[in-house]
Amino acid sequence: MQTPGDFDLSRRGVLAGGAASIAAVTIVPTEPAAARSKPAPAPPAAKVAFEVNGTRRELELDTRTSLLDALREHLHLTGTKKGCDHGQCGACTVIVDGRRINSCLSLAVMHDGDKITTIEGLGTPDKMHAMQTAFVEHDGYQCGYCTPGQICSAVAVLDEIKAGIPSHVTADLTAPPQVTALELRERMSGNICRCGAYSNIIDAISDVAGVKA
Ligand code: FES
Ligand code: FES
Repeated sequence: MQTPGDFDLSRRGVLAGGAASIAAVTIVPTEPAAARSKPAPAPPAAKVAFEVNGTRRELELDTRTSLLDALREHLHLTGTKKGCDHGQCGACTVIVDGRRINSCLSLAVMHDGDKITTIEGLGTPDKMHAMQTAFVEHDGYQCGYCTPGQICSAVAVLDEIKAGIPSHVTADLTAPPQVTALELRERMSGNICRCGAYSNIIDAISDVAGVKA
């Protein structure tokens, strides 16, 4: 018959055996110290040359650098904003060879030879682009964080409409698109404004287009 002492002895035995098993499975061979201190390999780098706001710029970049980071961190053009960094807000919109793109979604090294226009290239405080003036006159912003992207997008949108590029709301694809509030809202829908300045933004763009929204 088992006494309390027997039980205690066998319980200790089980615990000791368990601990030994755990130690056995957790002991792993370790790397030699020299191998551990080896520096990580340098990230792959590449040269890229593009024209930014009319000036040729040459950079050597980690190939994973987004166009947005190349502009902001390497060329110090901080007018272009990083909102989501995931292609969802439009704050990083720039114009590349006449087309607006989300610069956070594009690798800088893909733009070798391209012509890039950022908000700094559209106008200056002393000599503003018509779209910048219209945004000021129509109060098309509050905090201003989305504004550089909104303005770059708006400039490209009017060019798209002028070029007859249809949008999802163009009912008749054979007819040239018109500058209407609906058309502008659709085309500007990739540019989010957390302050909700949407109606004033549409008023500003319509003003530049010479129509009443
Ligand atoms: Fe590029 Fe938001 S930062 S879309
Ligand atoms: Fe603040 Fe648009 S003005 S997010």
